[in-house]
Amino acid sequence: MRTVYSVSEARTASKNARETGMKVGFVPTMGALHSGHMSLVHRAHTECDYVVVSIFVNPTQFGPGEDFDRYPRTLDQDLEKCRSAGVDLVFVPSASEMYPPGFDSWVEVKGLITETLEGSFRPGHFRGVATVCAKLFNIVAPQRAYFGMKDYQQLKVIQKMVRDLDMPIDIIPCETVREADGLAMSSRNSYLDFEERRAATVLSRALNAASDAFEAGQKDATALEEVARGLIKAEPLASIDYVAIRDAESLEPIQVVDKTAVLLLAVRIGTTRLIDNCLIGPNVNI
Ligand code: PAF
Repeated sequence: MRTVYSVSEARTASKNARETGMKVGFVPTMGALHSGHMSLVHRAHTECDYVVVSIFVNPTQFGPGEDFDRYPRTLDQDLEKCRSAGVDLVFVPSASEMYPPGFDSWVEVKGLITETLEGSFRPGHFRGVATVCAKLFNIVAPQRAYFGMKDYQQLKVIQKMVRDLDMPIDIIPCETVREADGLAMSSRNSYLDFEERRAATVLSRALNAASDAFEAGQKDATALEEVARGLIKAEPLASIDYVAIRDAESLEPIQVVDKTAVLLLAVRIGTTRLIDNCLIGPNVNI
């Protein structure tokens, strides 16, 4: 495994692999790697010949007062995990490598898809995500890039950016990986103390309760949201940012779940903000 720190080394290593006929798979991360990230790496391995992981805590996707400074940074362990998983190239740029003095170009995916939900609670977040992903895609030039469905809105934004800008990359959505008690894996789970960790299972319990209600015949989106909201409200350590059922592609609000929809949650457990989601609809297997 090679670890590189500069844009030019990353570009050259990936280009060399492609030029020998290898299919390049890319997993962008902010580090603090857990089994969710590693599932993306394993999937990339099964479908590609050369696997690139980036580790970069991207400052431009954090708003003022968010957790940029305390975001977990565990580079040594991350590199060890990548090595054990057979990653070929790890790109670990500094902030000044990605955003040198004079940097002034941004990728903005416009419209409801970035303005709603996470976009309304975290203004500017998706501009930072889209910009860094566009830069990373330009540097690594992979044929495939792997994104977890846990960050569902991010996945939809990246798919739209790639479509709109004709980037020659297949975006591969990968299932959310969960702890045994249902909590979706997230680097931010490390912020939770013992009691909060217990309370955090309310997100997956709320998703399951709404899915069960759908399976039992409830198709009304507001009623299904209420099922999830009721469970979360009963958890004293939890406070809701949003509980929303949306069209699974456009993220437009819907009234009736008569085709594939997504139930998205953002919930604060103490001071830790967690998100989760599940698909819900007639053709979704739960
Ligand atoms: O999902 C993440 O970890 C980040 O948003 C990403 C895609 C690596 C961009 O910084």
